[in-house]
Amino acid sequence: MTKHTEHGHDGNHGQPQGHGHAAHGHGHDAGDFDWGVLGPMLEQEGELSLGQYGEAARWIAGLPAAPEVRRVLDIGSGPGVITCLLAEVFPEAEVIAVDGTPALLERARARAERLGLGDRVRTLHAELPGDLGKLEEADLIWAGNSLHHMGDQRGVLAGFAGVLRPGGAVALVEGGLPTRQLPRDIGIGRPGLEARLDALSADWFADMRVALPDAKRETEDWSALFGAVGLEPQGTRSFLLDLPAPLSARAREHVVSSFARQREALTDRLTAEDIAVLDRLLDPADPAGLHRRDDVFVLAARTVHVAGRGR
Ligand SMILES: C[S@@+](CC[C@H](N)C(=O)[O-])C[C@H]1O[C@@H](n2cnc3c(N)ncnc32)[C@H](O)[C@@H]1O
Repeated sequence: MTKHTEHGHDGNHGQPQGHGHAAHGHGHDAGDFDWGVLGPMLEQEGELSLGQYGEAARWIAGLPAAPEVRRVLDIGSGPGVITCLLAEVFPEAEVIAVDGTPALLERARARAERLGLGDRVRTLHAELPGDLGKLEEADLIWAGNSLHHMGDQRGVLAGFAGVLRPGGAVALVEGGLPTRQLPRDIGIGRPGLEARLDALSADWFADMRVALPDAKRETEDWSALFGAVGLEPQGTRSFLLDLPAPLSARAREHVVSSFARQREALTDRLTAEDIAVLDRLLDPADPAGLHRRDDVFVLAARTVHVAGRGR
C-alpha cells in the first residue's frame, strides 16, 4: 500500500521532528501518512545518516555473538539507503528490503541497481504484522525506525524471533535523543523553540501510536521485550550524527524539510507565536530564516538494541 491512511504511520523516526518524531517522514497528522510521497525526504535523511548507521552495522558485525550473516531482512526499509549500507557491511549476505509501501521499494530497487548491489538486494512487499508469514528465515533482522509504526510491537517482535536462524540477531533502531538543529536562542521568538517542538512531537507520537491498528501499549524496555519473545539481549549503543555549522547545501535542505514537516504536522498544537517564528524560519527571503542563517547544524543520537537467538 502506498498510503497508510487508516492509522498513522509516521516517517522516519516516528515523529514530526527529524529523528524519531513527527517531522520525519510523517504525514500530516497522526492518522494520515503518505510514505510514498515521503520517499525523497527519507532518502535524503538516510544519506546524511550513513556514517551513523555504518558505525552501528559494523558494531553489530563485530559483536562476540555475531552470527555468520547470509541473509538480512531490513524491515520498514523505506527507500533502501540503509538496505544498501547493510549489503556493503555484510558482503556475504543477500539483503531483503521489506516494506508496506511499493513506491519506496521501487526506490530501494533502483538504488541497489545504481550502486551495483542489484544481485544481492531484493525487495518484499509486506504489511506487518499481517504479512509476517511472508518473511524468509534470516541471520540478521534490522528494523530501523519502523517497529514503532506497528500497533502490536511485541507480536511483531515474536514474529521476528520465529524467523531467526539459530545464532541470528535482531537489531532495533528505537529511541535516542531529540535532534537539535538550531541554537537555544535564535534571536527571534521566545528561546527554546526546539524543546517546545519536542514536547509537542512526543504528544503527537502518543496519539499516532494509539491510532495504529491493534494498538497495544508497551513499556519501551526493549531488553524486557526481547526476553519476553525468547531472545537474549546482546547490547545497546547509541550513535551520533554530528554535522556542525556551516552545513552543506544538502544538509541545510534536509533541515528545512524537517522544520516544514513539523510546522505542518504540529499546526494544531503550536502557539501562534511559534507558528510565526516557524514561518520566518521557512521563508527563503528572510535573513533570519533557515535558508540564510549561519548557525544551522544537525546533532542527532540514535539507539540500537540488539538481541540474539541461541544456537
Ligand atoms: C520512518 S520510515 C524508516 C525508513 C528506514 N528504515 C530508516 O530508518 O530511515 C518507516 C518505514 O516503515 C514502513 N512501514 C510502516 N508501517 C509498516 C508496516 N506496518 N508494515 C511494513 N512497513 C511499514 C513505511 O512504509 C516506511 O518506509
